[in-house]
Parts: sequence; structure tokens; C-alpha cells
Amino acid sequence: MKPPFSHSSSLLRGKGRLSPYLFTLIAFILFVAIIYGEDFICIFGQQFPNYSYSHKLSSTTESVKRQKLPFAVGKMEEGCDVFSGSWVWDELKRPLYEESECPYIQPQLTCQEHGRPDKDYQHWRWQPHHCNLPKFNASLVLETLRGKRMMFVGDSLNRGQYVSFVCLLHKLIPEDEKSMETFDSLTVFTAKEYNATIEFYWAPFLLESNSDNAVIHRISDRIVRKGSINKHGRNWKGVDILVFNTYLWWMTGLKMKILLGSFDDEVKEIVELSTEDAYRMAMKSMLRWVRLNMDPKKTRVFFTSMSPSHGKSIDWGDEQGGNCYNQTSLIDDPSYWGSDCRKSIMEVIGEVFRKSKVPITFLNITQLSSYRRDAHTSIYKKQWSPLTPEQLANPVSYADCVHWCLPGLQDTWNELLFTKLFYP
Ligand SMILES: *[C@@H]1O[C@H](CO)[C@@H](O)[C@H](O)[C@H]1NC(C)=O
Ligand SMILES: *[C@@H]1O[C@H](CO)[C@@H](O)[C@H](O)[C@H]1NC(C)=O
Ligand SMILES: *[C@@H]1O[C@H](CO)[C@@H](O)[C@H](O)[C@H]1NC(C)=O
Ligand SMILES: *[C@@H]1O[C@H](CO)[C@@H](O)[C@H](O)[C@H]1NC(C)=O
Ligand SMILES: *[C@@H]1O[C@H](CO)[C@@H](O)[C@H](O)[C@H]1NC(C)=O
Repeated sequence: MKPPFSHSSSLLRGKGRLSPYLFTLIAFILFVAIIYGEDFICIFGQQFPNYSYSHKLSSTTESVKRQKLPFAVGKMEEGCDVFSGSWVWDELKRPLYEESECPYIQPQLTCQEHGRPDKDYQHWRWQPHHCNLPKFNASLVLETLRGKRMMFVGDSLNRGQYVSFVCLLHKLIPEDEKSMETFDSLTVFTAKEYNATIEFYWAPFLLESNSDNAVIHRISDRIVRKGSINKHGRNWKGVDILVFNTYLWWMTGLKMKILLGSFDDEVKEIVELSTEDAYRMAMKSMLRWVRLNMDPKKTRVFFTSMSPSHGKSIDWGDEQGGNCYNQTSLIDDPSYWGSDCRKSIMEVIGEVFRKSKVPITFLNITQLSSYRRDAHTSIYKKQWSPLTPEQLANPVSYADCVHWCLPGLQDTWNELLFTKLFYP
């Protein structure tokens, strides 16, 4: 792979004029390391001997399925896997809202406002092979949330899904009866009339880490503290519907540093684990937390699988050197999966969840999202720092192929969440 920042190397050779660029360069390398972290693990990460995917995780533990789940109002047809299907062009019914109608979308996701020339990515509807998804009923969601709390916990991708969820229902609430406020790691959307809140809590590893600051968290040397889920978990107690995710931040390309003691220790005791083992540790902590803190008779818990990125066009058979930039069509190979690294994490999730009796509903959005190389924010977003002329001359170098435009793909994730919540 051609390193995306190779064009900057000439700057290092210039004498004296280095410093004005140095900050930008370092910031940019950090940025690339974060955005393309997944690529790095594919290059430097260890090889995994065998991938076998014959098994499939039933999305909710069987014993729980037999009794009625909280909030359920109906049932999907028996045996329908809503995550297995195809994208259908639907100019009439998609998008479900307009970008300009939803004031809550952060400027990193408003692609039209930032000059994206096409809108095709907004018009795809997910069609499961053997059934139809129910229509997202915002009034049902709000009635259900009356006097309740719903919370999304995880990283910026979960924040995107959270914002999409709010966008899907805020129009039902008059202007002066809703608000969105941020307090450090917590963002709260309040529907006053309903006494309901829909919240987002920043915890990119779920466990305590050195990337927990809600604003300053672009750290490449990431450390996660073992057994520390209560650090954040105490802020999730009493929530009625929880939606977790965690993935991107584990993809450092290196072994994961796990802190055994506390971040306050003068001499820190750190062990290194493979990404898979570290991720497994976090999954087990999450399940344990849910078992100890959530009442399966009154609450629901969801876990959203890995959001795929599209940082390497060779993954889908295009020429080397491209990425999601300038992609306006879907990947039409139904067996497309992308980087192998996602597979080993999917295996870990499957293995941990299958062994567990804790009722967590798995939102398996990875495959359906992997076709959507067209749906990323690419260069059409608010940039963290001003772009250099070199970057501007080469848009591929700074395209964000991790996050997704809104409206767009993540509305589908929420249609699936809606389906699993009310029609499990
Ligand atoms: C991988 O696993 C599958 C199913 O468990 C098995 O049939 C296959 O022989 C294995 N391949 C390798 C290379 O070990
Ligand atoms: C949406 O949900 C409300 C209940 O809050 C119900 O009265 C209404 O019929 C539902 N609409 C559709 C189209 O299912
Ligand atoms: C509002 O909702 C909270 C839970 O989020 C609940 O504790 C409180 O009793 C509710 N207040 C009213 C007036 O219903
Ligand atoms: C974008 O892709 C189209 C083909 O789909 C191509 O004709 C065009 O030159 C590309 N534009 C840029 C700026 O790469
Ligand atoms: C999620 O879906 C993919 C593709 O449909 C499948 O290969 C994978 O096994 C599923 N994951 C789990 C944990 O069920």
C-alpha cells in the first residue's frame, strides 16, 4: 500500500522551514493512524490461521426468546434473519429525513452542507431476504420511552447512530419541548413532554482507558485498564434501553496495552495482549456488567457489531491507492467482506456471546454495511485542522472512510434496532 502521507515526506527535507509544517504533519500522521488504524493491523498484525463462519449466533439467547421481551409489540416472521438481505434503490421512501431538518447532526457528518455533490447514498433501503422491516414508528418509540432513559454507549460510530436515532424522532416533538445538552462524556437529548431522555456516553473501549476524555482523545499509545468497566458503568445504571458498541479503538495495529493496576500508580503494571484477547476481555466485562446491573424483565440491551471502513480500494478489486473517496456506487459482490481483521473480532464476539446466557441482542450490521463504500463522509465534513495544499491536491489522502454521512447508512442500523426492540 502506498502510505497515504508519503507526499509529506519532502517537507522533512526542507531546511529551517520545517517547523510550520511539523505540527500539522504530526497531527496528520496521528489522524491517519487513527483513521486507518484498521489498515495498520492488517499490515502489521498477526496472521490468524483459520476463519470459519458456518455457525451463526442467534441474535437473542433462546431461553429469553421464548418469553415475551420487554417493549415487544409483535414478532417478526419465524426464521427471518433481518441482517441478511440486499440494498434496494428507493428514491421515494429514502431518506427518512433531510439533513437540513435535523439540527443535531454534528458537522463531521453533514456531507451535503460540506459540498458532497451526489445524494445517491441517501436513497438505499435495506431489504431482508425473507421478510420486510417494519416502518420506523417514532411515536411508538416516544410512547415507549415515556418516563424512561435510553442510552448509547461507545465510540464516535455509536455517536453517529445515536444522532441518527434522535433525527428519526425529533420532528414529533415541538421546538420548545426538546433539547440536547452535553456534559463531558454524556450527551442528553430530552423530550420534556414525555419525560424521556435519549443519551450518548463516550467510552470507546467500554472499559476505562487513556482515551476517555470526551474531547481530547486522539491518542495513539492507547492503554485500557483491566476490570474497570464500573468506572463508566456507574453512569449507565438505571437506564432502560442500552446500546453498546466498541471496535475501532482496539485496532491499533499493535498489541493492546492492558493496565493491571490503576492509572494513578507511579509505576504502571502493563501487559500486552493480542487485539483479540484484549477485545475478548472487554466483551466478558460487558456481559458481566449487564448480568449484574440490568433486569432482563424490564430492560433491553443491544450490542452493535463492527462498523466497516473502506480505506483500501484493492479490497474491492479496484486499483491500488484509492479509498472511499469519489465512490458513489455500492459493492455488488454479496460475499464481499473486506479486511480479514474484522473476521477475527467477529469470531470473538460469536464465541463470547454464544457461551453467555446474558440476554443481549446482537445487531449484526457489519456485512450489510460493508457493501456501502459510498456512504462514508469522505472529504465532505468539518475538518479537525486546516488542510495543507498538498492534502487539498490529493483528496484521497484525507478522506474519512470510517464515519458515515447522515442521513444515510446509520438510519438503517436504527431501523434494525427498532425491529429488534419491538418485533424481536
Ligand atoms: C478451517 O476450519 C474448517 C472448519 O472447521 C476446516 O474444514 C478446514 O480444514 C480448516 N482449514 C485449515 C486451513 O485449517
Ligand atoms: C405507531 O405507534 C402508535 C403507538 O404509539 C400507534 O398508535 C400507531 O398506529 C403506529 N403507527 C403505525 C403506522 O404503525
Ligand atoms: C421521569 O423519568 C424518570 C426516569 O428517567 C423517573 O425517575 C421520574 O420519576 C419521571 N418523572 C415523572 C414526573 O414521571
Ligand atoms: C471520480 O470517479 C469517476 C468515475 O466514477 C471518474 O470519472 C472521475 O474522474 C473521478 N474523479 C476524481 C476527482 O477522482
Ligand atoms: C454476522 O453476520 C455475518 C454475515 O452475515 C456472519 O458471517 C457472522 O457470523 C455473524 N456474526 C455473528 C456473531 O453471528
